[in-house]
Amino acid sequence: MCGIVGYVGTRPALPFLLAGLHRLEYRGYDSAGIAVVTGGALEVYKEVGNLSRLQEMLAGVDLRGTTGIGHTRWATHGEPTTINAHPHTDCSGTIAVVHNGIIENCEQLRRELLARGHRFRSDTDTEVLCHLIEEYSDGDLFAAVAAAATKVIGAYGICVVSARHPDLLVAARNGSPLIVGVGNGENFVGSDVPAIAPHTQRVIYLDDGEVVAITPEGVQGVVGKADLSARVHAVGWEPGEIDRGDFPHFMLKEIHEQPQALARTISGRLVESEGDSHLGGLNMTPKELLDVQRVIIISCGTSWHAGLIGEYMLEETARVPVEVEYASEFRYRNPVVGRGDLVIAISQSGETADTIAAVREAQRRGARVLGIVNVVGSTIARLTDGGVYLRSGPEIGVASTKAFTGTLAVLFMIALHFGRQRHTSNAEGRIMVRALQALPDQMRQILAREAEIAELAARFVNGRNALYLGRGYSFPVALEGALKLKEISYIHAEGYPAAEMKHGPIALIDKDMPVVVVAPQDSVYDKVVSNIEEIRTRRGQVIAVATEGDTEIASKANHVIYIPQTLEILTPLLSVVPLQLLAYHVAVHRGCPVDQPKNLAKSVTVE
Ligand code: G6P
Repeated sequence: MCGIVGYVGTRPALPFLLAGLHRLEYRGYDSAGIAVVTGGALEVYKEVGNLSRLQEMLAGVDLRGTTGIGHTRWATHGEPTTINAHPHTDCSGTIAVVHNGIIENCEQLRRELLARGHRFRSDTDTEVLCHLIEEYSDGDLFAAVAAAATKVIGAYGICVVSARHPDLLVAARNGSPLIVGVGNGENFVGSDVPAIAPHTQRVIYLDDGEVVAITPEGVQGVVGKADLSARVHAVGWEPGEIDRGDFPHFMLKEIHEQPQALARTISGRLVESEGDSHLGGLNMTPKELLDVQRVIIISCGTSWHAGLIGEYMLEETARVPVEVEYASEFRYRNPVVGRGDLVIAISQSGETADTIAAVREAQRRGARVLGIVNVVGSTIARLTDGGVYLRSGPEIGVASTKAFTGTLAVLFMIALHFGRQRHTSNAEGRIMVRALQALPDQMRQILAREAEIAELAARFVNGRNALYLGRGYSFPVALEGALKLKEISYIHAEGYPAAEMKHGPIALIDKDMPVVVVAPQDSVYDKVVSNIEEIRTRRGQVIAVATEGDTEIASKANHVIYIPQTLEILTPLLSVVPLQLLAYHVAVHRGCPVDQPKNLAKSVTVE
């Protein structure tokens, strides 16, 4: 959720902080703020609303300080106001803190600190950290932060500066992501790689419970870890990957990146002659794969929709029972899980708090946990017993797109490999491999129809509701299409299994209700066509996503978007693309801030 940046070096910190916050805006945009240590004093600027308001406030301000921190907020405790914006400061105004996470014992700490004479200004949980650090300060900021950390219950990633320590950042992490970027004569802190990616490719992922002191020369004083240099990783992202390029929004860029991203996801992982995939990161022997009694997929949001499709894929190819759970429900409902179960955690960011908690719970109960994760070195990637990286490249748009199709490709490769150990023949496997390899080009054909979809989107502009229907593999695609529309255009949309429509949503259908039906020519096609008839009878407006060459559907739907033919099991990777484009263009027509949808954040790091 909230984005954090920090800089310590020899250059003025301010340009770095603002540029870093700009790249982190997808983590929250309720308010933004910076604190810079300048000539032995702390200069703090903060403003409610998105970063542009802070930038306006700072236009013409000449801050020369070379140590500073910045924050972009997704509000948890305290309304989005300027007072509640970060950085927060102690009573003396010499210590400033930026924080991502939630301090659960903040009320108790606040009472204790008030009793000791501290004066609070904001409603945030973060401010207790400032006063706690002040309480422990006796000239050693690092020791004071470490001492304060022992008093705090909850999740935090924090970065701290003090007017008394002009060349020092202190960072601490417990449960919320935080990384240190290693430069030459300067070092960086970020809640996320995009904050620092243009400046250095070398990062240290902080562990829970760690407190580090960062100076221009290095990263020192690590609590609980002796050798820090061994923990420097290469990010593996090119600086250009985190720019919008010529696209008006990250979301559109990422929709269009899907063919290349998918090609990267599958590259080197398929062996056509064997009709199989090779996924070294699974860390599982053929015997271990055969011993799996049940698969449980845990995830949130779009990743959960991908998990539903994974269920269908795995059950079909490997005949292994699969359950798909919202991570937040799994975590808190005393689940029956243990040895013999294989848990697959799906998370683009690798930092979703509920998914992390669910992974820990599954491991605690003895299950093996695999991760399907995009962000290298993220918490879930490091926690799990094995897994597969998406290699989709940075996904910045809050509404997930390329990570969804990347996840589906990984789930398909896992299903293929499981299937080959159990039921699938070499010949069937080779057909599946070839079909997957053909997808990037097929996606390009759909993307080439963007103008047609944009025109269609204009019909949604004044709508208040939409229904998305699908059966079989297309049902989770309908859920995902509806979610995309809701997230970025604020039109209420529901995804439903097409046959279930008769058990409720059909009551809503009239001439003003657009109904998007995902209807490729698959094993349930005829049934879906009957459902379309039912909608048309009630004068609903049908937009069908159908297989190229399907003339029958053209006579029944008001509008058809065609996708190329592929195997039924792979259809979701194609049918979702027009729905992403549709949601995007509806949002643009309605003038919505596509990359910064209200109340949402890219990475949900609180439970
Ligand atoms: C947020 C994002 C979604 C994402 C979900 C899960 O809600 O807005 O796009 O699908 O979190 O995120 P994860 O990183 O765990 O896949």
